[in-house]
Amino acid sequence: MRWVVLFILAAILTILLYAITPIGSQWRIWTTQAITITSKASLVYISSNDSFAATQEGIRAARFVLDALKNKSTDSAKAASQIYDNLIPVENYGGEYTTLEWFCKYLLASDNEKKKFFSDKFAASFYDFFAENDYARLKEYLQRKYKLEQFVDQNTQAGQDRKAFLEDFILFNNPRREEWEKTSKIIGVLNLKQGDTIADVGSGPGYYTFKFSQLVGEKGRVFAIDTVKEHLNYVNSVSQKYGIQNVETIQTGGDAIGVKANQVNFAFLCSLYHNIYATAREEERNSFIESIKQALKKDGTLIVVDNALVKDSELPYHGPYIAKELIIGQLKYYGFHLVKDYAFIPQRYILVFNKD
Ligand SMILES: C[S@@+](CC[C@H](N)C(=O)[O-])C[C@H]1O[C@@H](n2cnc3c(N)ncnc32)[C@H](O)[C@@H]1O
Repeated sequence: MRWVVLFILAAILTILLYAITPIGSQWRIWTTQAITITSKASLVYISSNDSFAATQEGIRAARFVLDALKNKSTDSAKAASQIYDNLIPVENYGGEYTTLEWFCKYLLASDNEKKKFFSDKFAASFYDFFAENDYARLKEYLQRKYKLEQFVDQNTQAGQDRKAFLEDFILFNNPRREEWEKTSKIIGVLNLKQGDTIADVGSGPGYYTFKFSQLVGEKGRVFAIDTVKEHLNYVNSVSQKYGIQNVETIQTGGDAIGVKANQVNFAFLCSLYHNIYATAREEERNSFIESIKQALKKDGTLIVVDNALVKDSELPYHGPYIAKELIIGQLKYYGFHLVKDYAFIPQRYILVFNKD
């Protein structure tokens, strides 16, 4: 009996010794972490140039939208809308279908109903951008994205950039984004106050920028930071149109955010970090994150919103995603610790970090 007790004690001691063996400068027991795998998908996925594959039904719907625009056909707008009703619940989550259906419903609405589409002035600007010159940009988007027309530059970098710009624009300024993303809950996490300063890093066409601008008020400031000039031109044009004075655009080369030291209470990155993680060169990532660290005030907060790896049973996000554990781990290395972690839909998470 005594031998059995001794054996058990020895086994417990061995396990404890293993657990507290130092790895590098830390203890194994505190550093060993496992990511729970609930899906056959990879932990990080960057996807192709097309943010989501154009399926047969997606292409059929796009043809109807194009016909509705070109020939003012309400039948085509109805047919497209019906396809989207069927596709939205079963195809990739958060894509452009809700936006394209929004346009179809607008085309089908009475004059009185049309006014309701623009109760949000930023939705009105979004509409104007695509509707200008008899819907020239919306037609171009459909033709480029769904390959409904040949473009001389389609195989060049300029052609790819043009398609990516139009696609980002339609995806990220989607007037129905709240519906799928629960934007207001994400913004609620920040608890922004009048007078706060925030860097919207990778602002795109400013969907979040203008929401932040309203919350921080006249005494606050929002930096809209992006590498793509066309997005920032649009942000500037909207600011000018509505007399918004607390938004400043900064075009960067991607390896730093271009904000002076100790300037911002918040740095906000939505749908960007997966790129930094998976595609940036190490020196770029080092200087990019260092520039965020510098720009943040001592007690400043870094918020990373990104696309989640979902369980097999969930509809996946339409584009790139990254398991949040990879971001948390990498930012820990760069001197940020996670203070809170939220998810309002399975396809997106919100990570809140402070500087160590
Ligand atoms: C997927 S969009 C998201 C836009 C916006 N954050 C939103 O959620 O509405 C990502 C944006 O980040 C920009 N971007 C990519 N790399 C960047 C970098 N290193 N620095 C700043 N912006 C970057 C892209 O041009 C693009 O507009």
